[in-house]
Amino acid sequence: MEIIIQPDSQTASHVAARIVARVVREKTHAVLGLATGNTPLQVYKELIRMHRGEGLSFAHTTTFNLDEYIGLSPDHPSSYHVFMNRHLFDHIDVPRERIHIPDGLAADIPAFCRGYEEDIRSSGGIDVQVLGIGTDGHIGFNEPSSSLASRTRIKTLTDQTRKDNAVSFGGEDNVPCHSITMGVGTIMDSRMCLLLAFGKKKARAVAAACEGPITAMVPASVLQMHPRAVIILDRDAASALKKTDYYEWIYAHKPDWQKH
Ligand code: PGA
Repeated sequence: MEIIIQPDSQTASHVAARIVARVVREKTHAVLGLATGNTPLQVYKELIRMHRGEGLSFAHTTTFNLDEYIGLSPDHPSSYHVFMNRHLFDHIDVPRERIHIPDGLAADIPAFCRGYEEDIRSSGGIDVQVLGIGTDGHIGFNEPSSSLASRTRIKTLTDQTRKDNAVSFGGEDNVPCHSITMGVGTIMDSRMCLLLAFGKKKARAVAAACEGPITAMVPASVLQMHPRAVIILDRDAASALKKTDYYEWIYAHKPDWQKH
């Protein structure tokens, strides 16, 4: 794991955006795994700025989102379809037919999930997967106890996640109970995983994921097994880590050719 600690979420997001932009520039048919939630918003803002100001083109890029709530149509204001359009897709040149987000209204969910896995495979696999982390240690909607080998499937949300996401629905009671999410194994197949976390409320989950044991009770901890997992944090999210001095020293002394 490479753990990068930045002074604030904006600087951290710019580091992440540079990593994503480099993949898009260097690989003609790049495949991006994308996340929703508050965490990646500044990354998307920066990618839009690069698109407008630096000619960063997504014309040949394919995207796969991690998850969607079951029961929400793509035009539901709280759906991740609407979220992604508003915060990224409406502002860049990625072709609509290359955008993939799980279908919350799929009639046959297992068949849809198999198809989603097949689409990821046939696109060549995900080059870089952007991830947030839940306060309970989830990645995607892979809640604690998720199999670390799981594939795209239906997942029941924990009370904690429904509480955390209540603001987007005007109250916890309106938050759907189920989601379709890429599995932990699906995420682990990505060539690079880029996990971002900001704020004190993520500090405990980040410490458990990075420095605790690998366990299904903290699904993000499986990233310790990933050959290219980059964890980008602001100081608050890093505040419960034990080895911050070491991580900061490593980043400050990276050879030029390795810099992000
Ligand atoms: P957040 O959610 O970015 O809104 O904090 C992250 C997550 O639940 O994975």
